[in-house]
Amino acid sequence: MSQINMDASMRFEKDTRPLPDLVPDRSIVLVGLMGAGKSCIGRYLAQRLRLPFVDSDSEIENAAGCSIEDIFELYGETAFRECERRVLTRLLTGRPHIIATGGGAFMDPETRAQISKTGASLWLKADLDVLLKRVSRRNNRPLLKQGDPKEILKTLIEKRYPVYEQANIIVESEDVPPDETVNRVLSALKNHFEDTPSLTEDKL
Ligand code: S3P
Repeated sequence: MSQINMDASMRFEKDTRPLPDLVPDRSIVLVGLMGAGKSCIGRYLAQRLRLPFVDSDSEIENAAGCSIEDIFELYGETAFRECERRVLTRLLTGRPHIIATGGGAFMDPETRAQISKTGASLWLKADLDVLLKRVSRRNNRPLLKQGDPKEILKTLIEKRYPVYEQANIIVESEDVPPDETVNRVLSALKNHFEDTPSLTEDKL
């Protein structure tokens, strides 16, 4: 019979980390190009704010029962975008999370409108060299397989950066340790929430 190897003291270990001094009343939605660091920074940020983390690409894969690559190959990009929109709508209606989105999600007007209504968008802005270095670590992004990744990223920067500009908060994602970027994100979020009425006040 299998046995759970954990004694009672471990199960109820007290969390001694200091309470975060920022308690967002809405989800923080990380946007930006492939390689901007949305999933990596999102995970650290969630730990610091003690919020659940969710990655929209993983949610899409769970819902579809196959990988993003397979969805593109079997059903095409349009079907993927449709699925992405539905998944994000669902994620945005729950309690506050840190949400890492796929690079194309914020380009969809409906998704953007939904994010601006119920969440706070944060663009992790990275330059071409940083993106290129990071995306070359994995070979599972269908859009980058359609030609020279550098040229594709350049085109996407031209097309998408003017739209990402519309995010509520912009933080530079440079080639520095994640902790440094997370600190920048936290201070940008604090400034943002100081100046932003809470969702309940919005509705008054
Ligand atoms: C895409 C980015 C990917 C993934 C899909 C399409 C895009 O996510 O959603 O391959 O359109 O930029 P990451 O940005 O997490 O790599």
